[in-house]
Amino acid sequence: MAEPVALESSASAGEPNPVGGANRQTPRTGRVDLPERVRLVVLFGGQSAEHDVSRVTARNVLAALDPDRYDVHLIGIARNGRWLQLQGLPALDGAEATALTVSGNHVDPIGHLRHTSTRRHDDDLNGDDLATVVLPLLHGPNGEDGTLQGLLEMSGLPYVGSGVLGSAVSMDKAVAKELCGHAGIPQAGWVALHEREVDVEALASAIERLGLPIFVKPANLGSSVGISKVATADELASAVATALDHDEYIVLEEAVTGREIELGVLGNEAPRVSLPGEIVTGAEFYDYEDKYVTGSAELVIPAELPPEAIEEAQRLALVAYRALRGADLGRVDFFYESPGRGLLLNEMNTMPGFTPASMYPRLWQASGLPYTELIDELVRLALERHAHRGSRRR
Ligand SMILES: Nc1ncnc2c1ncn2[C@@H]1O[C@H](COP(=O)(O)OP(=O)(O)O)[C@@H](O)[C@H]1O
Ligand SMILES: [Mg+2]
Repeated sequence: MAEPVALESSASAGEPNPVGGANRQTPRTGRVDLPERVRLVVLFGGQSAEHDVSRVTARNVLAALDPDRYDVHLIGIARNGRWLQLQGLPALDGAEATALTVSGNHVDPIGHLRHTSTRRHDDDLNGDDLATVVLPLLHGPNGEDGTLQGLLEMSGLPYVGSGVLGSAVSMDKAVAKELCGHAGIPQAGWVALHEREVDVEALASAIERLGLPIFVKPANLGSSVGISKVATADELASAVATALDHDEYIVLEEAVTGREIELGVLGNEAPRVSLPGEIVTGAEFYDYEDKYVTGSAELVIPAELPPEAIEEAQRLALVAYRALRGADLGRVDFFYESPGRGLLLNEMNTMPGFTPASMYPRLWQASGLPYTELIDELVRLALERHAHRGSRRR
């Protein structure tokens, strides 16, 4: 196998700016360096099925942060949606962590963010005016789907990750497939249905179009929740009912027999794309148990693929990232059907798993960017994106 390399995208850097005249040098495309010290508001927990995973992620991120560089503020979101300010790493294992799972004192989210970003800290008293960045280590609904991003926009603070639209369209499997189809990205056959459209006829026509087995998924959910694989027409109605328990929109998909290949994308104007990695699942499919409970899936990095497939995967990952309005980071997941159609896009995750053992950080590690430097780069990108956006008229 040829030695694969991480790609620097050749896109827009240095090209004429179409808005405001050719070669206009504005802060919009200029590099913003990471300041020597940053106030980092780490948001974790949340109301989705990935609450526990998010806590593990927060613990790892905190342990990796350079205390000389970061003034860290921890905000835990309890399972009931309440926001809690926590006192550092030990709090994650103590009484406050228990409070996080049960109730917690209610904190008004926007007020809390504003307060955290503006209150006077020791650094300020020393005359430093620290830049604040929010790092939302949250997955799934109310974390990765644009809702939290709307709140962060309202707070006016720079934050890591895709904005409202990018987060929302990437989370919605029906809308994401529509956009990626328009961008010319190959995908498995799919049918999106709203609850009102679900009847015997619609299901029969989906089977005719997609064949069997079929994957049935709620449009807006992550971590494999509500997803079923059905092998017979008889099972389809109950799988559809399960998916409709989670969302009024669902997606039916042709079951692909292929390998699962994932790539990391990092950046904005000229995003970089990592080497590909492969998930070798121990289960029937990469389900919730496999992801978080038994953890029987194995990650192979870099994935062993022919050089032309690696190149194509990297190209398609960037096309998907742009089509879905990715910002700062995204993990783009494919199926690789060989022999057959080759790469088929599955989805993009705008806040992928982020423990040091997770695919996204490991992809960058293998591509030459270790965990701590990856976090630094994400914080830098959030500041840069905020500065570029701030340079536009509203
Ligand atoms: N069309 C499909 N063909 C084959 N396997 C699939 C298909 N869709 C999903 N899977 C399996 O189910 C897992 C979860 O599905 P996915 O759409 O990625 O949902 P989630 O957003 O919960 O990660 C995938 O990682 C894969 O193992
Ligand atoms: Mg997935």
